[in-house]
Amino acid sequence: MSLAAANKAEFNKMAAEYDLKPAFLKINAQLAEAIRDRLEWIGIDWVSEEDKPEDGKEIHLLDYACGTGVVSRALGPYVTHTLGIDISPGMVAKFNEHAQKAGLDPERIHAVEGDLCSDPPTVSSTEASSTNFDIAVVCAGFHHFNDTELATKRLAERLKPGGVLVIIDFLNPSGTQGQVPEDVKHMVKVAGFDEPTMRRLFEGAGLVDFNLWVMPEKVVLEREKDGKTTRLERTVFFARGGSRLNSYCVLP
Ligand SMILES: C[S@@+](CC[C@H](N)C(=O)[O-])C[C@H]1O[C@@H](n2cnc3c(N)ncnc32)[C@H](O)[C@@H]1O
Repeated sequence: MSLAAANKAEFNKMAAEYDLKPAFLKINAQLAEAIRDRLEWIGIDWVSEEDKPEDGKEIHLLDYACGTGVVSRALGPYVTHTLGIDISPGMVAKFNEHAQKAGLDPERIHAVEGDLCSDPPTVSSTEASSTNFDIAVVCAGFHHFNDTELATKRLAERLKPGGVLVIIDFLNPSGTQGQVPEDVKHMVKVAGFDEPTMRRLFEGAGLVDFNLWVMPEKVVLEREKDGKTTRLERTVFFARGGSRLNSYCVLP
């Protein structure tokens, strides 16, 4: 079974419980807070709920590998339109259920099933081919992808000029922790990424102004195996890069 197919199957199984596990709730709260604290660093000309009606400005977010919508919820007040994409229909259904329960307009926020990392991309929405996103974010998804180079390119090409890509994932752990545990190898490609790798991915996709920030507070992953719970501390990084603004040829 391919990595993508395994992810689809495993996250479908987890979808119903995903938002109920205390360890995930804690991590999601940590990530949401860090995302909101880093709005300036991300560098988008955000809207806020108050200024929406006045200037009618639109900010479009692509939440890729969206899961149940942690990033979309954290950035919700600062964007006008959100598209979530995830390979798991179970996670997509949970994302849409949360949005519906919050009374949000599906025209403004919804998720669809899709895989932009496959060749060709498979996505059940034409909106996913838009090249007009102000910001694309992948949170805790990159270590699940088979081809991060292709993924970075596919996301970068969906940004409008001046748009920003943000990848949130685990910093490459050292020693034995750097190995992917045997029981998750079918769905996790690598344990983490280092700064040079992320820079190479961003620059290879034509993005500029690369920057990587390491979250000071660690997150704790819990894994259940054979009735035993193991806890793994992980360091999280945020990497950002922007698409070039249109440049014009200036004649001498
Ligand atoms: C650890 S969860 C993170 C979900 C969410 N971004 C969050 O921060 O809570 C990883 C997500 O990546 C999705 N995923 C894995 N491989 C994918 C792929 N090739 N394309 C799209 N989504 C994928 C999974 O279905 C899952 O929802």
